[in-house]
Amino acid sequence: MSHAEAYADPGTPLEQSRRRFMATATVVLGGMVGLVVGIPVIASTIPSQELLSSSGKDWSPLDPTEVAKIKGNTDPVKIFFKHKVQDGYLPASMVEDYVWGVPMTPAQYDQMKAQRADLFQDKGGEVGYPDEIYVVPLGFVVFSSICPHLGCKFNWVQDKKVFLCPCHGSEFKEDGDHIAGPAARGLDPLPLRDESGKAEVIWIRYKAAIADRVIISYS
Ligand code: FES
Repeated sequence: MSHAEAYADPGTPLEQSRRRFMATATVVLGGMVGLVVGIPVIASTIPSQELLSSSGKDWSPLDPTEVAKIKGNTDPVKIFFKHKVQDGYLPASMVEDYVWGVPMTPAQYDQMKAQRADLFQDKGGEVGYPDEIYVVPLGFVVFSSICPHLGCKFNWVQDKKVFLCPCHGSEFKEDGDHIAGPAARGLDPLPLRDESGKAEVIWIRYKAAIADRVIISYS
């Protein structure tokens, strides 16, 4: 019994040539489309020099109206400001946040240095404590508004004269010293400077829930 065998007609030499041309053209065209689509995608994954430099430290001006409330005040003041945020490879944007400004005389600052000695030990860190956290003409220090326990925002409780975090109950004294609750360290100060009469800070995010201050980012 004989079986029919599949037979593919190779076509005429002209047809064969046309098929080869079409196959080659398809490969070339596909490669070009790949390059057109792929190059911008690949380029977008490479951070430009501008992006890299914008992820560094930036001095941000504090709201002058709120800074003015510090003068003649003995209680901490919430001070708003805008700082740059770099989210992955998206363009940098400005977001509003706030810090706590705590009025202090030079004598009170000396007390704080004694009370919070951990801030003033040179551990070779990137933050230049103590020189950058108290500026005599400004008369206050600035604390990050982020709780060092797990990152909630804490409040100043006037009656008790403490900073209280609503999330897990950590408490801190006016100078940021930790007095109760699960936080592993006191409040985190931020570098402060007087720039031609304007107060400016560097915003820093520190690692949460550990005793040491480890910088995560400046945005
Ligand atoms: S986040 Fe503040 S006490 Fe837990």
